[in-house]
Amino acid sequence: MSNSVSQPADRSYPCGSTETTKLIHTPLRPFGRVVQAIGGGARIEDIPVDTLARWTVESRVVVLRGFQLLAKQEFADYCRQWGEVLKWEPGDVVDLVVEENPKNYLFDSGDVPFHWDGAFVEADPRWFFFQCLDVTPGVGGETVFSDTSRVYQDADDATRELWSRVSMTYSTEKVVHYGGQVTERLVSQHPATGIPVLRFAEPLSEETYKNPVHVEVHGVDPAEADGFLADLAERVHRPQYCYDHDWQAGDILIADNFSLIHGRNAFSGPTRRHLQRVEVI
Ligand SMILES: [Fe+2]
Repeated sequence: MSNSVSQPADRSYPCGSTETTKLIHTPLRPFGRVVQAIGGGARIEDIPVDTLARWTVESRVVVLRGFQLLAKQEFADYCRQWGEVLKWEPGDVVDLVVEENPKNYLFDSGDVPFHWDGAFVEADPRWFFFQCLDVTPGVGGETVFSDTSRVYQDADDATRELWSRVSMTYSTEKVVHYGGQVTERLVSQHPATGIPVLRFAEPLSEETYKNPVHVEVHGVDPAEADGFLADLAERVHRPQYCYDHDWQAGDILIADNFSLIHGRNAFSGPTRRHLQRVEVI
């Protein structure tokens, strides 16, 4: 998967409340955009929430660079302007750091297969926010986003018809801040745009992952379930649907948790990466 960045677009946007700050928008491939603040001292609050929300719906992923990071509580309070903040056991803000001996693969240095956040909680987060406090460059660990609305759009009619009849039951043991059993239809609708999206989390085998996720497919002949899952996994991994985000310290990233599923590439060496994450319903 590649995440080549094209040359900056020749558009720049004056920032709402800071006259000296210019914002340069640069498209990412195959989707997403970087919004770079030029001039220093820019804050995320300088951009009106509805403007930033529109950019995120349009681009799926928005990366803010050159903006000041927020203190932990300030980060949660900012996100409350977008809606209700989903409360996890660790609190409103979840610190994601790679641990030496983790109980769960999220904190491990291996890969994290595709999933959507909130599968094992009652509420389905609409947005998620990250800020990157620290990172070791060049050791992998990119966050990978797959745009399921495009996967659906490109599928043929017979495949779409099959998908429309499928639901899946996911089950996992609760060892960190999530767990349980949930059944979801494969095809859902984006709450803002009405565009069909896929809700799919890849099965995690007991051999490879710290806490496995079992997936049971309904609506498909049981003899064909494994082939069905393999076909779906192959489609969502195609490079034309995937953006790999290579973190830089200071990045603030906003993503549309409905259009996208996400995962993480494995790290190839020791990392001091520290992300903070907030999810908004
Ligand atoms: Fe996640």
